[in-house]
Amino acid sequence: MKGIFPIEKFQSLRTPFYYYDMDLLRETLASINQEAGKHEGFIVHYAVKANANPSVLRCIKQAGLGVDCVSGGEIEAALKAGFSAEKIVFAGVGKSDWEINLGLKAGIHCFNVESIPELEVINELAAQQNTIAQVAFRINPDVGAHTHANITTGLAENKFGIAMRDMESVIELALSMKNIRFIGLHFHIGSQILDMADFQALCNRINELQNQLESHRIIVKSINVGGGLGVDYQHPNRLSIPDFKSYFDTYATKLKLRPGQELHFELGRAVVAQMGSLLARTLYIKEGAKKKFCIVDAGMTDLIRPALYQAYHKIENISSDEPMEAYDVVGPICESSDVFAKQIDLNKAKRGDLIAIRSAGAYGEIMASQYNCRQLPQAYTSDDI
Ligand code: LLP
Repeated sequence: MKGIFPIEKFQSLRTPFYYYDMDLLRETLASINQEAGKHEGFIVHYAVKANANPSVLRCIKQAGLGVDCVSGGEIEAALKAGFSAEKIVFAGVGKSDWEINLGLKAGIHCFNVESIPELEVINELAAQQNTIAQVAFRINPDVGAHTHANITTGLAENKFGIAMRDMESVIELALSMKNIRFIGLHFHIGSQILDMADFQALCNRINELQNQLESHRIIVKSINVGGGLGVDYQHPNRLSIPDFKSYFDTYATKLKLRPGQELHFELGRAVVAQMGSLLARTLYIKEGAKKKFCIVDAGMTDLIRPALYQAYHKIENISSDEPMEAYDVVGPICESSDVFAKQIDLNKAKRGDLIAIRSAGAYGEIMASQYNCRQLPQAYTSDDI
């Protein structure tokens, strides 16, 4: 056993595969419950898009969190894992009719609505089902976040949400609709955010908007601030549980919640990133003209984050204690972007060594594809093996 991995148990498993450390997941969930539980009205949802593995979902359900879904498929996965419909919120700029109908039929807590045409369709479909849809409006707060350009979502130029200047007219419209119940506002400024000042900026903006609405006697029952809390990809062992205390305390001190108001969160990455690793086997060590390549049997089809966002994931050779050597760690896919890391130090590697790509529990397995006719990666939890 090297570090956190049961290497002997890995030997017989076909690579590549994801390995989920369920004890770490349970500890992470306990920390979320402890820190959020200190503040009245705080309700935490898990953003299913980060990882929809059934065992992971069941574990999160057992901890009592709600879920944030962005598709009919995610709603189905959440219901199957045992989440009750009242704990589901449903977001997304492009909800199809069948997905809206599914949410209405199940009786989900809230549709996070992103446009007037969408609101009209929800009203119409709710009327057909003779039911009332609870809605919150996703407002684009025009707040930047210090993160990768592809995962910042709260700027005026992004496709997400309703512009602030339209907020009141959209709410007025909702209030006039028979099959709609307006309950709140929804925001999400981006992902992998580590600077609490970004969340503070969102709080300040929400405070302004709430004052504005109150001056027009519009009452908001719940505020949903989305997700976005980041993790430390550099130190998956040392900082395996994100700083939930600072995160929730920031909202508790900076956001002026009204008496009885609910504050919803939708955390994805912070819940599951650190408990997951992608395990691959070294196929070949190739001496290139200028550098050494460690060619592994996992590729960008199994974990696309490095290729798509130039994301850093710590990589370890868990089979070797030999001195460190520099490698480019690359996969077998026929794309030059199929590179996990360039010139990183690994314990000297040989054919057959197991390589662990860390902090891969979020946006890993769920973003896998079958490009090159590859099989989807397997996933094992520490409870099962
Ligand atoms: N709520 C909404 C409305 C979102 O759009 C997202 C993520 C979340 C919650 C959860 O955010 P988190 O707590 O995980 O930061 N594939 C990218 C991340 C895309 C995030 C999309 N939205 C990656 O691998 O970095």
